[in-house]
Amino acid sequence: MKPSIKKSEELYQKACSLMPGGVSSPVRAFGSVGGTPRYYARAQGSRFFDEDGNEYVDYCLSWGPLILGHAHPAVVEAVCVAARDGLSFGACCQREIELAERVLAGFPDMEQVRFVSSGTEAVMTAIRLARGVTGRPKILKFTGGYHGHSDSLLVEAGSGLVTFGTSSSQGVPDSFAQETVVCPLNDEEALEKIFASFGDQLAAAIVEPLPANNGLLEQKPAWLAKLRALTEKAGALLIFDEVISGFRLRYGGYGDLLGIRADLITLGKIIGGGMPVGALCGPKKIMAALAPLGGVYQAGTLSGNPVSLAAGIATLEILADGGSYEKLESLGRQFDQPLRQDAGDLAYANWRRLGSVIWLYLAPGEIPRSAEGIADESAERFNKMHAPLLDRGIYLAPSAYEVTFLSTAHSPDEVTDLAKQIATLIRE
Ligand SMILES: Cc1ncc(COP(=O)(O)O)c(C=O)c1O
Repeated sequence: MKPSIKKSEELYQKACSLMPGGVSSPVRAFGSVGGTPRYYARAQGSRFFDEDGNEYVDYCLSWGPLILGHAHPAVVEAVCVAARDGLSFGACCQREIELAERVLAGFPDMEQVRFVSSGTEAVMTAIRLARGVTGRPKILKFTGGYHGHSDSLLVEAGSGLVTFGTSSSQGVPDSFAQETVVCPLNDEEALEKIFASFGDQLAAAIVEPLPANNGLLEQKPAWLAKLRALTEKAGALLIFDEVISGFRLRYGGYGDLLGIRADLITLGKIIGGGMPVGALCGPKKIMAALAPLGGVYQAGTLSGNPVSLAAGIATLEILADGGSYEKLESLGRQFDQPLRQDAGDLAYANWRRLGSVIWLYLAPGEIPRSAEGIADESAERFNKMHAPLLDRGIYLAPSAYEVTFLSTAHSPDEVTDLAKQIATLIRE
């Protein structure tokens, strides 16, 4: 029997009259997977509980921050202690220093941090800083990559390979979009062409070293090394956007795991432990260009908020001993084995897993490394499966292009069950 979602339906209807699309962020509206968004009343560990009293195992985990699961006791305790001492200072506090030290311990090439309140802000600041220090206007990004919703980055490829971007959102003037150049991932020739055409105008190239928000488009280290070499030669900065990958697979970044050094790193999600935090990290010589030392302006009323910092500190303290990552890898294997066993004969039962990040790519053939290579049939299969999974108490991110996250709060049985349910549904 289908669980009742009467309250969620009523709440969603009411929300739609009060808020555009009923939501505070677009994908939450279930536009591509269909059905009614659930209204969650509380969450604990691996579980969500909705307003109708239904229970779900959550594999979206607030889109990545909750690597320790919902409401981890140590994180909640740290937040409560901080909150009792004041919700916001708008002034300096010791926790800024503690979180900065913990973050920098994961990024050996970085020397300083600027805290902000979201990944979007971190990236926006990185772009302005890159433009400020190089005195150049253009940014290079890669097709399909989402780096938050700032104007410079809501840009997609125009027609042709080497091209100015066109805005991917109304409200971004063409003149802004034209300062962003867009290139396919995993394409050395296209990279070379872009640097030949625009190298001396580029302030920075921005890429997730492990592109994970438009599928999981793992790049070959040689391609990333080429990007590093070309940016260096052109005098442009390389920004690794590690908002998702930072502290997700190891204590630190994915770029360092590959041995490729970026000039600036952007972070968010995990370093806030579920509270709003973003950060920009860089070497002193670049960070000195930020106000108040330098002429690149950036500020925030709630930046360095003590409650958010406390959640981040508690989270990184737990992650620092490395045991969490071993646990997550072993949980991940609990996903691979049953899915291979129950659906391995289906050519379209395809997925890529790196530690606690899984992308279901439900189309035959090699897992793509670029947005252009993603087959539509994968999304069609995923979209069909999303609602039945919800009915079975499994919450995946409501988009085929988003990854599935595991947390240390999931049990091996839950993860095995996830794989088995997926195997059953993709057979149907
Ligand atoms: C790689 C990447 N960069 C930046 C952002 C923007 O972060 P936020 O949503 O915290 O503004 C996201 C959000 O998902 C992201 O995945």
